[in-house]
Amino acid sequence: MEIIIPKPLRTLWEHDDGIAVIDQRKLPHELVCEKVNTLDKTIWIIKEMVVRGAPLIACAGAYGVYFGLREATSSDDLNTILYKIRNSRPTAVNLFNTLDRIEKELSKFQDLKEMTQYSLDLVRLIVEEDVEICRKIGVHGLPLIEELHRKNPNRPVNILTHCNAGMLGCIEWGTISSPIYQAHKKGIPVHVWVDETRPRNQGANLTTWELTQHGVPHTLIVDNTGGHLMQHNQVDICIVGADRVTRTGDTANKIGTYLKALAAKDNNVPFYIALPSTTIDWNSKDGVKEIEIEERSQDEVKYVWGKNDEQKFERILICPETTPALNIGFDVTPSRLIDGLITDRGICAANEKDLLNLFPENNLK
Ligand code: MRU
Repeated sequence: MEIIIPKPLRTLWEHDDGIAVIDQRKLPHELVCEKVNTLDKTIWIIKEMVVRGAPLIACAGAYGVYFGLREATSSDDLNTILYKIRNSRPTAVNLFNTLDRIEKELSKFQDLKEMTQYSLDLVRLIVEEDVEICRKIGVHGLPLIEELHRKNPNRPVNILTHCNAGMLGCIEWGTISSPIYQAHKKGIPVHVWVDETRPRNQGANLTTWELTQHGVPHTLIVDNTGGHLMQHNQVDICIVGADRVTRTGDTANKIGTYLKALAAKDNNVPFYIALPSTTIDWNSKDGVKEIEIEERSQDEVKYVWGKNDEQKFERILICPETTPALNIGFDVTPSRLIDGLITDRGICAANEKDLLNLFPENNLK
């Protein structure tokens, strides 16, 4: 069955007896989809980063539960299914929060058929919630951009971002991109500085692609350029995404985010995190000590991927083959370096008291 890409574009949608996802390893060169209808394939697309980005990993994982139950012989298999999915990628907490929610809701069922049907209803709800949560992040973040434009109306608002926390990391809208797209739609001139984000180049490959799709002016920069631009008054605000935010506001995001926050502090550039509430880990406080950081293959550092002049995908070695490499996926930006958290319930300071004001239901945890 031919895969039809939805409009407006989504990163994941139901297709045939499963789902289709955009294969993010092929962007920006090719818009190719991958069909997924088993638990094993779901885990594979998460591990291989066919899909990536904290909210999208969680939505894909949720479909994995449904596929797993469809393949199961007893409702007791749920524990094994959840265990397998939980072991796919460790840092983004959305996956764990979503699987905990699913586990809790499915515990009401004994009958496998009923459990399976309910899991499908639930994952559909989770996907639609993600779309709405991201839209709201944009509603709350838009006034920040409007205010910067009022202060400096003679040039576009220059926003620096790292990695891809756009629609490609979610279902639709994205987190950092939601206020940007809403500002752009409203006619506020914006320009995005896009960190290339070594080693996997999510900025160069993905953020540039989706900004191009939306017609948002942007410039690609190497990861080390941001500090210089900030010193020369070329950045009005940094907005980055998050993979896990502790209840005190410490934020794990793609490796290199911390260095941008340090440069922003030194240059009085406001530094904001855009996050859905599903990215908050209410069980952790000290991000540096408590957040598990993913370490990935050294090949991602030693080789770069791209399309050559013959339009063929090619992998190029950029160091001596014997040189060892270290590939730490994320770092933690301490809350003291963060000026605010743009959430689906509003903007708050990066501290426990203000986060709890927005999310009082987590007060007792
Ligand atoms: O390794 P990735 O590409 O999954 O890392 C993604 C990020 O760090 C994003 O900034 C984060 O998940 C937010 S996506 C809305």
